[in-house]
Amino acid sequence: MYEIVKKEFLSQNIVLMDIKAPRTAKHCYPGQFVIVKMDEKGERIPLTICDYNRDAGTVTIVFQTIGASTKMMAEYEVGDSFRDFVGPLGCKSDLIDESIDELKAKKILFVAGGVGTAPVYPQVKWLHEQGVDVDVIIGARNKELIILEEEMKKVAANVYVTTDDGSYGRTGNVNDCLKALLAEGKEYNHIVAIGPLIMMKFVCLLTKELGIKTIVSMNPIMVDGTGMCGACRLTVGDEIKFACVDGPEFDGHLVNFDEAMKRQQLYKTEEGRALLREKEGATHHGGCGHCE
Ligand code: NAD
Ligand code: FES
Repeated sequence: MYEIVKKEFLSQNIVLMDIKAPRTAKHCYPGQFVIVKMDEKGERIPLTICDYNRDAGTVTIVFQTIGASTKMMAEYEVGDSFRDFVGPLGCKSDLIDESIDELKAKKILFVAGGVGTAPVYPQVKWLHEQGVDVDVIIGARNKELIILEEEMKKVAANVYVTTDDGSYGRTGNVNDCLKALLAEGKEYNHIVAIGPLIMMKFVCLLTKELGIKTIVSMNPIMVDGTGMCGACRLTVGDEIKFACVDGPEFDGHLVNFDEAMKRQQLYKTEEGRALLREKEGATHHGGCGHCE
């Protein structure tokens, strides 16, 4: 069992929890994720790691209450436990394997959209610990939905906050903010964008035009997170990839976002899954049994 040792509401429907999971805390890196299960019959919920403390043996997760399972999760209190907490899963961020000199030579910008700010944080924190300065854009629909701003300010060189409705920080979406920063003279040659698929798609369209390498994290389309269900199947360039085992990070300029968004919708229904299986055949995986 994996005990909740801290719980905090970051906004009305975004929850942060520290979970006692020493083995995961010991081995995880920024970019990886875990799968949480509340009880024996509970849904498997993949969540990107937001932080970890190897000494305390804790892993921080952040989730939005969007469905029945995440709503139930949000009702758990400090002292309650999850039945399963599996991880670390997926590959660590590519940046972790680069030399510090290479990283310092880059002009890195992180673009964090909504709840996608949570998986951005451990990467920025890790880079800060290595002495690498990076900038961060945090975008949300409104002030209430901006999360981890103070934490990010402690580890980033500059944090630019923008809200769609202008209720806090700059006004507009993350792309408006990126365009404004470039117009103000900022220069970047490496961008990491994490957030909803539609945001990552539009960030990549802009950065492709600008010729700025862009990495995206394709976590939002996962179901089982272990290469079994096929939900996270992606086309990246000419290749078929599975985000949970080959990613979650990919070259955003090669990801087929339209296909990913269509698959995400289809995967929600039994009929859709059957259709995907018929279309994708042997490369669909289908190990979840939902497609039969
Ligand atoms: P949201 O819909 O509120 O969007 C957040 C911000 O993204 C917006 O404020 C805006 O700045 C930007 N954005 C959205 N659409 C855009 C567009 N078309 N062009 C330019 N910018 C745009 O985000 P939310 O409700 O917090 O996001 C929830 C989604 O994020 C879920 O689908 C979840 O699965 C996903 N998510 C992804 C990751 C990941 O690792 N990629 C992690 C956590 C959550
Ligand atoms: Fe990757 Fe199921 S989430 S195969």
